[in-house]
Parts: sequence; structure tokens; C-alpha cells
Amino acid sequence: MALNLLKAGHKLTVYNRTGSKAEPLSQAGAQVALTPAAAAKDADFVIIIVTDSAAVEEVVLGRDGILGTVASGVIVIDSSTISPVVSRKMAYHVAGQGASWLDAAVTGSKHGAEKGELTFMVGGDRGVFQRALPILQVLGKKHIYCGPNGLGLSAKLAQNAIQATMLEIFCEGLVLAAKAGVAPQTMLEILQSSLARAGLTDFKAPFIFKGDFTPYFPLKLMHKDLELAMEAGFAQNVPLPTLAAVKEVYSAAKAQGKGDLDYAAVITFLEELAGVKVRSK
Ligand SMILES: NC(=O)c1ccc[n+]([C@@H]2O[C@H](COP(=O)([O-])OP(=O)(O)OC[C@H]3O[C@@H](n4cnc5c(N)ncnc54)[C@H](OP(=O)(O)O)[C@@H]3O)[C@@H](O)[C@H]2O)c1
Repeated sequence: MALNLLKAGHKLTVYNRTGSKAEPLSQAGAQVALTPAAAAKDADFVIIIVTDSAAVEEVVLGRDGILGTVASGVIVIDSSTISPVVSRKMAYHVAGQGASWLDAAVTGSKHGAEKGELTFMVGGDRGVFQRALPILQVLGKKHIYCGPNGLGLSAKLAQNAIQATMLEIFCEGLVLAAKAGVAPQTMLEILQSSLARAGLTDFKAPFIFKGDFTPYFPLKLMHKDLELAMEAGFAQNVPLPTLAAVKEVYSAAKAQGKGDLDYAAVITFLEELAGVKVRSK
């Protein structure tokens, strides 16, 4: 995302907690700051993308957080997938400085980020969203305004709840068929000829069949998002019975040490339960 901003001609200052990871950006022309506060100083836009709610709180409200330097009129764009409640709290704090906050969650994985083809789900003031669009257009190809602060994240959590569940039930079906002796490729062909065909399963199947779980989106981050979706369900009084069970399947795979693999590695836990492997011959 940062490289795309540089390529588009923007003057960029970057901060990363592990400083060495900023080296390629320094070589590409970015200034490297030693703290979030230093990165945000004199900026027109501040873009954050870090792991979770605690990390966002650290880079915004922490001792060297951006709150110390973010100026009136600045737009802070947070693309991390975090709790909508924490995100609204950040919006409140930056508003105290006269700045604006957008929750701008993304989907599209690493290749979408590299190609500048992410999809953004944005929450915040609509006028602020319009002002941020020229920046967001460098980073993504689709920008969907969802409503006031927090609603971009609410949409993102619902999206990942759907995506994680689709993949998990696809894996359960593949394991069921494989145990009976149906070849995985045959099962995929059947699905692709039915209304159950989905871009997600078309994309993931070849990797699953090879046992290649190189992370496009790590299982531990999907698990985090399912926790956040369950929290949102609790806060909004929305029962999520299927998601509760699906989340525990991801929890089990994570407890087995599979958190750094792609979330499709959830199938390996199901395979172990059933005593069968879903692999192309
Ligand atoms: N990866 C995807 O495909 C994808 C897709 C959609 C949305 N997202 C969301 O985007 C966010 C980032 O994803 P990612 O894959 O880049 O995650 P990641 O590999 O965990 O990296 C996140 C970044 O957060 C930093 N960080 C973590 N804790 C911190 C703290 N306490 N203080 C300061 N910095 C901290 C890390 O710094 P260090 O380098 O020092 O560890 C790293 O730069 C997540 O919320 C994720 O759910 C990711």
C-alpha cells in the first residue's frame, strides 16, 4: 500500500514497529520515522494498518502515538480490522484535535494490496470520505461508503463471518466426500456445476488439494475477526449460532499451531478428526 502511494507521487513518511521492515520503503523514497507521532507530524493524511485493536490503541493513544502530533483538519484512515467500538473511541480522540477519522477496512488480501486493487468498506463522515477518495483510489479499485464511524468495520466483520463459514463448510463437505471415496476434483466439478459455486472456493480449492497453505490471509487473523464478529453479535443482541461453532473450529486449528498458515489450513484439523486427507492424487 505504501509503495503504491510512492509510485503515485505522494510524499510519504512511514513508521513500522520493527524498523527493519521499513527499509524497502526507505529505498523506494519514503522518509522513515522512529515513532507514530513523528510519522504523523505535518501530514495531511495519516494511514494506519496494524494487527488488532490493541495495536491501533498503541499507535494512536500510546506514549508516542499520533494523538501527540495529528493536526486540525487531518484525515486519519485506519484500515486495520478491529473492534468497531474501539474504532469509534479513536474517532472521538482525534476529533478532540480537530482531525477526522475513517474506519476503512479492506478486503483483497496481499495481491490486492500489491496491485492497488483492494476493496474498501468505509465508515465516517461522508464529506470526509469524499475528501479521502483520491488517496483511497491509489490503494483500491472499489470504495463502499457504509455509514457513520464504525460501520465500515461492522460490514467487514460480517463479510469475514460469511467468508470463514463458507470455507469451513466447503472443507467439511470435501472431507465427507473424501472419506466415502469421492475424489476432491470430482467434488469441485460438481460444486462448479451447481448454484453452490463460489469465487472463494474456486480460488482456494487448488491450494487445498496441493496441501499448500502459504498464507494469503493467516488463520490467526481470521480467528481474530471471528472473535470480533461474535463480540459484535453480543453487543447488538444478534444470535450467531453457526458462527459460534465455526469460530471454535478455527480456534482448534489455531491451538494446534496453525495460526501462521492460510486460513484454508482449517481443513487439516477436520481431516485429522475424520482420519482422511483431501489431496489430489
Ligand atoms: N493480510 C491480509 O490479507 C488482510 C486482509 C484484510 C484485512 N487485513 C487486516 O489488516 C491488518 C494488518 O494485517 P497484516 O496481514 O499486515 O497483519 P500483520 O502481519 O500482523 O502486521 C501488522 C502490522 O502491525 C504492527 N503491529 C502489531 N502490533 C503493534 C503494536 N502494538 N504497535 C505497533 N505496531 C504493531 C506490526 O509491526 P511489526 O512489524 O513490528 O510486527 C506490523 O507492521 C489486520 O487488522 C488484518 O486483519 C489483512
